[in-house]
Amino acid sequence: MVSKVFITGSTGYIGGQVLHDLLHNKDHQFEVTALVRNETKAKRLLERTNNGIKTVIGSLDDASVIEEQVKKNDIVVNTADVDHVPSAEAIERALVGKKEQTILVHTSGTSVIGDELRKGKKPSTKVYYDDESIDEINTLDHNQPHRPVDEIILRINEKNPNVKVVVICPSAIFGVSDGYDKIISAQIPILINLSVANKQAFSVYHGNYIWSHVHVKDLGELYVLLVDKLLKGESVPQGRKGYYFGSYVVENEGPISEKPSPIEHLWGDVSAAVGKVLYENKLVSTPDVAQLEPGKIAQLASFDFAPYLWGTNSRSRANNGIKIGWKPKFTDPKYFWDGIRNDFEHMKKEGAFSK
Ligand SMILES: NC(=O)c1ccc[n+]([C@@H]2O[C@H](COP(=O)([O-])OP(=O)(O)OC[C@H]3O[C@@H](n4cnc5c(N)ncnc54)[C@H](OP(=O)(O)O)[C@@H]3O)[C@@H](O)[C@H]2O)c1
Repeated sequence: MVSKVFITGSTGYIGGQVLHDLLHNKDHQFEVTALVRNETKAKRLLERTNNGIKTVIGSLDDASVIEEQVKKNDIVVNTADVDHVPSAEAIERALVGKKEQTILVHTSGTSVIGDELRKGKKPSTKVYYDDESIDEINTLDHNQPHRPVDEIILRINEKNPNVKVVVICPSAIFGVSDGYDKIISAQIPILINLSVANKQAFSVYHGNYIWSHVHVKDLGELYVLLVDKLLKGESVPQGRKGYYFGSYVVENEGPISEKPSPIEHLWGDVSAAVGKVLYENKLVSTPDVAQLEPGKIAQLASFDFAPYLWGTNSRSRANNGIKIGWKPKFTDPKYFWDGIRNDFEHMKKEGAFSK
């Protein structure tokens, strides 16, 4: 049977990987309609997928386009903007009134469990588990990043049980994606770009904050695994319990310490690796890392959220994914650390440093 999918964000990093994995899935046939912002993007996506999809032109602000597509399709995969409230409301409106069984796979991000920016703060020992900590996750403060949209999405299944809702909440995503347009991530590439602009790599204060991470190809497999299980009608956590961190787990993990586990990183260590690669490439005059105040970083980046990207702790464990049979392949730390250099090389090839 062919299942009809509506996807947002498929010219992007996450959405491109998910689209690729849907189109290459061996168990199901998907007829995909992708929301794209303009004709140029549509043409590029069509060419690069060998006309394997349909496109619809529109933005997340075009509520009527979104509602129409949500009503028409069996599966909705939302990967475009985890903070866009009006499109989440449009998705909710369309789904709440829908009689046909529908699957919604929504994207969030683990800044939702991030802590505050504070000088002298230590690495946190607080770890969130997507199964055991689910009540805490469901009652996170409304002012946490991404939370306003999460709140809308997580209530949909209560309003209409015909809609199976899962939220995939990725940590720091790394690796080059199999997507069709933008194929590298944001957090580390932005740090690389801003370090060049700053003429020195930097951390937020001392940089001793821990985050979990996930390879984009592992993440894509999690999306498609969930679609597969829900299509087959298998019982997997969904609705308010359907929260899936895009991060890894540590088998038989002992007590949590202030040191990152092998499936996590310290942002200060990432800054040091960035300093090293930029220094080797003569883009900065020292490999040392400057300790900057959040305000200076926000100014450098021209957006207020920037220091939160590298100045918070966000430690998560993807228990739910593992329980449903997700088998991530890029858990070895070398993939994450090599990923920094790979991002740099990709950016260099694209001419990011030749201006
Ligand atoms: N990368 C990570 O590590 C990570 C981790 C967790 C959560 N997230 C969040 O997940 C979301 C996607 O991340 P990403 O890294 O895939 O971002 P990305 O590479 O910038 O891709 C964003 C995608 O959404 C589309 N889009 C954005 N705003 C839109 C709008 N107003 N109307 C229509 N389409 C729109 C973009 O279209 P165009 O091609 O036209 O720009 C692109 O296809 C973001 O909200 C991000 O904050 C990212």
